Amino acid sequence: MTSVIIGCSGASEIARKIARRLHLPYSKLSAEKFPDRELHVGFNTSIKGKIVFLVQSFYNNISDKILEVLFAAQTAKDLGASKVMLIAPYFPYLRQDKRFKEGESISAKIVAKIFSKVDKVFIVEPHAHRLKRFKDFFPNAVKISAADVIAGYIKKKFDDYVLIGPDEESSNWIIPISKQLSIEPIILRKKRLGPKSVKILSSLNKEKKVKIAIIVDDIISTGDTMVEAGKEAKKIAETIHYIGIHGILVGDAMKKLRKQGEVVSCNSIPSSASKIDLSKAISDEIKRFAK
Ligand code: R5P
Repeated sequence: MTSVIIGCSGASEIARKIARRLHLPYSKLSAEKFPDRELHVGFNTSIKGKIVFLVQSFYNNISDKILEVLFAAQTAKDLGASKVMLIAPYFPYLRQDKRFKEGESISAKIVAKIFSKVDKVFIVEPHAHRLKRFKDFFPNAVKISAADVIAGYIKKKFDDYVLIGPDEESSNWIIPISKQLSIEPIILRKKRLGPKSVKILSSLNKEKKVKIAIIVDDIISTGDTMVEAGKEAKKIAETIHYIGIHGILVGDAMKKLRKQGEVVSCNSIPSSASKIDLSKAISDEIKRFAK
């Protein structure tokens, strides 16, 4: 066995599941803070000659988590790892993919560069929808789709529903999900007015009533996109179900959404809503790189 799965601070549970599925050894990375808040990182298993899969999800203390992975990746190389891969159930900073205003940084480009030293970066549903050529932008990244697991969850739990994407970009995951469910989705149009304000521009046909509306977005951050889409969906549906691939759920997002309906997310970011397991989708993709 020459591969090892290493659980970093933001993804130890999902890392353990991936290791179990692939019958690979698992070890947790030590990531402690010195009294002055500097980071101390260390491996608890032998790394020499191994293919090292670091598993990290970047939420909450995002900058610390980035540094933790960079320290771990460099340390693995120093200790003689044959390859260092990063599995990121949630990868950050990809929404700032262009200079929207003069003088601001293109964060997505910068993080891609920062992680260019890692042999491969496996990312579940990266927010890369506006980028025509993600590969040019992030050459060592491999996208992992969550469409299968989400379609499987919907199939098991619901019938007589309509599937809704809250904005044009959502066609990237709504279409693959709806193909698997053999249904015709509804894709709304959205205008973003600011980081905390969105407006849904589409109007649904109130004559076509349904029992359940399932709205799927790739990221739930403030929850405003989902709340606004939910208000529109409420015109045609009795109940609303929200599915977020990455449930960042900042501030009172969960509270706002639970007032309108049920909230479920994938386990790229652990929370009381993270009920859809991504470990199979991730394992299926990385197994050809593991030995
Ligand atoms: C936007 O491009 C994304 O696909 C999501 O719709 C967005 O990040 C959701 O953010 P919020 O929950 O803050 O509306």
